[in-house]
Amino acid sequence: MNTKPIGVFDSGFGGISVWREIVKELPNESTIYYADSNNCPYGQKSQDEIIKLATAITDFLLTKSCKIIVVACNTATAAAIDFLRNNYPIKFIGMEPAVKPAALLSKTGNIGILATKGTLEGRLFKETSQKYAGGINVHVQVGEGLVEKVELGEEASMETICLLTKYIQPMIDKNIDHLVLGCTHYPFLSDSIEKITKRKIKLIDPANAVAIQTKRLLTENNMLNSERNHFNHTFYNNGGNKDVLLNILAKEKIANVEIVNL
Ligand code: DGL
Repeated sequence: MNTKPIGVFDSGFGGISVWREIVKELPNESTIYYADSNNCPYGQKSQDEIIKLATAITDFLLTKSCKIIVVACNTATAAAIDFLRNNYPIKFIGMEPAVKPAALLSKTGNIGILATKGTLEGRLFKETSQKYAGGINVHVQVGEGLVEKVELGEEASMETICLLTKYIQPMIDKNIDHLVLGCTHYPFLSDSIEKITKRKIKLIDPANAVAIQTKRLLTENNMLNSERNHFNHTFYNNGGNKDVLLNILAKEKIANVEIVNL
């Protein structure tokens, strides 16, 4: 048995869409979430910059004795997961844009991917597309400005709907039937996206698959916490809007949550 916490981090609040799935799949586990909102967005930063940020966060999470770290950020996964895996003795789980399920399920032969520039330009995305999307048209779109809207709690504002329409309508016109949310902030925009797609396009969010993978790794490595009732969830917020964070967490209705504003 291992009562140490699972570490989770993102460039801000987006990774909470992954964290909530981890908590559902692993209800006995404690977690430590680090929201790097002070350096958000990561999407346009260089790989070196993101590696530096991810390294600093990993060092912090290790001082809190995390037993495993989930990089709940597509952009940080694309830029830094190889470096992290090569330089730390613990296991890292990263995000993968869900091209595979979208391509397998598509009937129109057209799928859309909404993600940051860093994710779409990364090796991981290119390799996944080549491997799984043969014969499928993959329509990619950078979601510039969307992460900032989520950080401000403006998921449903007029401006956000306008941005989303600008990004998604051309993909609708290309007859996509699946849209991959390739950034962990975007599931918080699902309601606004569904307004635009009129629920005719299936949204694919890989968060649950990442939580299941986390559970599998902990099980295989004998690191599960089998003891109920001793779990807690600590959020370190280094500069994000405190009310937005409170609001996001309140909707999740998860017990034993504590916020530390750094
Ligand atoms: N949540 C991050 C991701 O999944 C957002 C990246 C950013 O900060 O631009 O890519």
